[in-house]
Amino acid sequence: MDRWNGRVALVTGASMGIGAGFCEELVKHGMKVVACARTKSKLEALKEQLSGAKGELHPFVMDVSNDEQVLAAFEWAKTTLGGVDLCVANAGIAIGGTILDGKPSDWRSQLDVNLTGTLHCAKVAINGMLERGVNDGHVVLVGSALGYQVARHPQLHFYAITKHALRVSATALRRELLEKKSRIRVSNVSPGYVDTGFASRAMGIPDQAMQAKLKEISMEPLQVSDVIDALIHTISTPPRVEVHDLLFLPTDEDY
Ligand SMILES: NC(=O)c1ccc[n+]([C@@H]2O[C@H](COP(=O)([O-])OP(=O)(O)OC[C@H]3O[C@@H](n4cnc5c(N)ncnc54)[C@H](OP(=O)(O)O)[C@@H]3O)[C@@H](O)[C@H]2O)c1
Repeated sequence: MDRWNGRVALVTGASMGIGAGFCEELVKHGMKVVACARTKSKLEALKEQLSGAKGELHPFVMDVSNDEQVLAAFEWAKTTLGGVDLCVANAGIAIGGTILDGKPSDWRSQLDVNLTGTLHCAKVAINGMLERGVNDGHVVLVGSALGYQVARHPQLHFYAITKHALRVSATALRRELLEKKSRIRVSNVSPGYVDTGFASRAMGIPDQAMQAKLKEISMEPLQVSDVIDALIHTISTPPRVEVHDLLFLPTDEDY
């Protein structure tokens, strides 16, 4: 991780869960982190919590589905900190509903955040790196195990579709970067069930009931720290190694 010391990261979905955990880790490794999400108070609390750490956390209120706000965040990072070297496009939402019972408006919302907004961040990050001649930059897309198969989760079918598309996007970006002879790396990092409350919120199940269900089926979910370990591995490999597509699951998950 030494090579990231003093460099600039932009993380979306930074106000809680995986994003907040990863911001914390990057700041501990000396990075200047632009922490983006919609909830200002949570970003400010994270900044407070990290005061005195080796790096810096800069809260930036940004909705990834708002084109102007995305551009403003990257522009701010460029003018204030010199530009983004690492982009972790982690913001994601899931709205429960089968295809047959779901609403197109919910599908659009999920596409806007999980696919279009995420790819917009990747695009702006990569173009900024190319412009600045940053050849060792990295874009990490946070995908999902549901980006590989949809079995057993009918309520998350559309969410799974967005994560399938995101996984393909990582390869499309890789091809475009190869064309440009750039060594900027793109990784799609896909965990199975993580204990952040994300799935219970998506399905409208109280977290306590979800925890009881997990106990009943004897499934120990991944923790945020497990995802952080995978993300740190992904961005720490030598320049010749691109972790392009990483799937990891709770050992007991019925997948
Ligand atoms: N938890 C799991 O089981 C699991 C499994 C596989 C993959 N994932 C993926 O991991 C990522 C993070 O999940 P998590 O479990 O940490 O979720 P989480 O705890 O619900 O956090 C989601 C984060 O995304 C932000 N966000 C949501 N909509 C946004 C938008 N329009 N613009 C900007 N930020 C937005 C939220 O902040 P604000 O509300 O403040 O904007 C929050 O910081 C997601 O992409 C998810 O699909 C999660």
